[in-house]
Amino acid sequence: MERKGFNSTFGMIMAAVGSAVGLGNIWRFPYIVGTNGGGAFLLIYIIFSFIIGVPLLMTEMLIGRKAKSDAVDSFKKLAPKKKWYVSGGLGALAAFLILSFYGVVAGWSLDYVFKAATNQFAGKSAAEIEALFTNFITAPIRPIICTFIFLAITMIIVKAGVERGIEKVSKVLIPLLLIIVFLLGVRGIFLDNGVEGLKFLFIPDFSKLTMPGVLAALGHSFFSLSLGMAIMITYGSYVKEDENIASSAFKIAIFDLLVAVFAGVAIFTAVFSFGLEPGQGAGLVFVTLPNVFPVMPGGYLFGVAFFVLLSLAALTSTISLLETSVAFGVDSLKMSRNKASWLSAVLIFLIAIFCSLSNGSAFPFKFFGKSLFDFLDHITANYMIVLAALIEVIFIGWGYRKTEVFNELTNNGKLKFNLKNAYYIAVKYIIPIAMILILLSSFGILKSA
Ligand code: TRP
Repeated sequence: MERKGFNSTFGMIMAAVGSAVGLGNIWRFPYIVGTNGGGAFLLIYIIFSFIIGVPLLMTEMLIGRKAKSDAVDSFKKLAPKKKWYVSGGLGALAAFLILSFYGVVAGWSLDYVFKAATNQFAGKSAAEIEALFTNFITAPIRPIICTFIFLAITMIIVKAGVERGIEKVSKVLIPLLLIIVFLLGVRGIFLDNGVEGLKFLFIPDFSKLTMPGVLAALGHSFFSLSLGMAIMITYGSYVKEDENIASSAFKIAIFDLLVAVFAGVAIFTAVFSFGLEPGQGAGLVFVTLPNVFPVMPGGYLFGVAFFVLLSLAALTSTISLLETSVAFGVDSLKMSRNKASWLSAVLIFLIAIFCSLSNGSAFPFKFFGKSLFDFLDHITANYMIVLAALIEVIFIGWGYRKTEVFNELTNNGKLKFNLKNAYYIAVKYIIPIAMILILLSSFGILKSA
């Protein structure tokens, strides 16, 4: 039963945060806040993160620590001869598809390291900076090469095995990223009109909130915390027996939220100051922040550092995403680790090629009116991981013994956890019902739209 663990509570939290904090916080969060109208979306996002996200994170961590195994196998250990492990399979498929578009964006951030380093933002108007981005992502070759490089690095690391490395790297990287994003936010507040951005982000206007927007908030809270794909089950399996699961989950969620909110502040203050469109979609980060760097002290270094850190934050996440599908190949399809790594990476890269091409106007295929890139982003985050997570809560609430759950949460009675009954009621009734309602109504709306 000797299993390598994380060295310290801080290290464990930073490793989990390393998976959680990524493009989801800095690229995806601001852009969906923008397309969903701002403050009201942020508010329900925060509510979902704490009322649904945190209990779910606790659930995954406790499953992992209890079973001490990977995603699929953990379910099999805790409930032999039952089918709960399909949740793991669904999660693996989602991870696979997520990486296909996430890898493309990671490639963009890599390219932007280069753009920042060669000073390509200086002296450009907002429109020119936007054109720089659009020309780049709609080009046929360059973004694909960047994606290739990024996925290749990810694969090399995953093939070698990563647990220890992730902890070390995340401990330094993630706090640094938080500081940089914070400083960018502070700079943003002092831009002309920057305050308008704060109003957009923090003053809720509920008339702008739609049902698909509510689902997007739920989906993103899972996406951002790396839930529904059993990543946190795997990480949970490395958590020590005397660790307090509830408080760790809470800290991880706070960290994740802080990075996202600071990124939101940095981006929306710039959007309003430079007269850009908040609801423009997936390009948002890449067309806003490059306006800010040239007008801040040390902006050149800041720009380079920002995209380097963004790429590294993306890397700790792509590692956890690839690891999910590799683990599935190894455990469920009985492949060697080598073969599973190669096969997943190659297949993901093939889909990523089409994702990248789908951003260009010459690409003829649409999926429910969306580009392949937007479509995969939408269905994985809003449906697939929500469904996989739903199975997990139903398992813990209905398919598993309550006393075992409580023992795991309180470290066999050593910790006091006053909210354990509230947690249990949430997991058993409230969360599943809320998730089913949101999913159903969104399916309904999808049909009528
Ligand atoms: N949470 C990461 C982000 O915000 C993305 C991610 C990494 C993820 N691993 C995951 C999302 C597993 C869902 C499941 O960028």
